[in-house]
Amino acid sequence: MIRLEEINKTFNKGEANEVSALKNISLEIKEKEFVMLVGGNGSGKSTLLNVISGKVNAGSGKIFLDNIDVTRFEEYQRSKWIARIFQDPLTGTAPDLSILENFRLASLRTQKKNLSIGTGKKFQEFVKEKIAVLGLGLETRLNRPMNSLSGGQRQALTLVMAIMCEAKVILLDEPSSALDPKTAVLVMQSAEKIIRDYGLTAVLVTHNIKDTLSYGSRIIQMDEGRIMRDMRGYEKSALKAGEVAEWFG
Ligand SMILES: Nc1ncnc2c1ncn2[C@@H]1O[C@H](COP(=O)(O)OP(=O)(O)OP(=O)(O)O)[C@@H](O)[C@H]1O
Ligand SMILES: [Mg+2]
Repeated sequence: MIRLEEINKTFNKGEANEVSALKNISLEIKEKEFVMLVGGNGSGKSTLLNVISGKVNAGSGKIFLDNIDVTRFEEYQRSKWIARIFQDPLTGTAPDLSILENFRLASLRTQKKNLSIGTGKKFQEFVKEKIAVLGLGLETRLNRPMNSLSGGQRQALTLVMAIMCEAKVILLDEPSSALDPKTAVLVMQSAEKIIRDYGLTAVLVTHNIKDTLSYGSRIIQMDEGRIMRDMRGYEKSALKAGEVAEWFG
């Protein structure tokens, strides 16, 4: 689903503050894999997600999505494959607009073909059905403005909006780290449910040791722009908290 071939990324090349953020990264992520991406501050995790999504151009190397070479594709051209979730629950939403209006914007952005877009009854029912999956009761409050909701509620809704576009890949950069512990659990559970229910391929960055052990089918640890560890299946499930703690730098 995602394939990186010898990706390098250097910021401020040739200047005193030159940073080599990604060093010769080659990586293949299969369809429906759920990767937990960990590593210390500045190890290159966000840059890796940005290079996959096209927000940041790779200095060298190739990127494939579904076996299509997208290295030269702009971010918006890759958005038909990729949805993104950030740390700040308000990123990508319009805070003053209602839940329904935000979903309308989300569907306009991604131009979902076979759904008449608007605030009409059919669209409302469609959104209600999607939101109900979260089990937060928000489907009865579609007219509430986004900024009247808690951070966790907003983040959970952002997750649902992300799947409106039928993207196959979801990249989540510390989706729960700005939330209180209880809400963080709710958002992680919502993320897992959506990833599973929609059969998405996911890469999730976290600094939370417990989440690293509880979620995902694969764990990748980065250090100074390189992949240091890459574990799946039994190897991942056998990991202990003490062991993983060291990988966070
Ligand atoms: N736009 C940029 N311009 C210059 N340097 C950058 C830029 N983006 C990232 N870097 C540098 O690249 C390196 C990797 O940064 P990155 O944000 O990918 O790390 P990270 O693993 O996501 O860290 P954190 O856990 O703190 O979020 C860091 O040294 C950072 O300062
Ligand atoms: Mg980061």
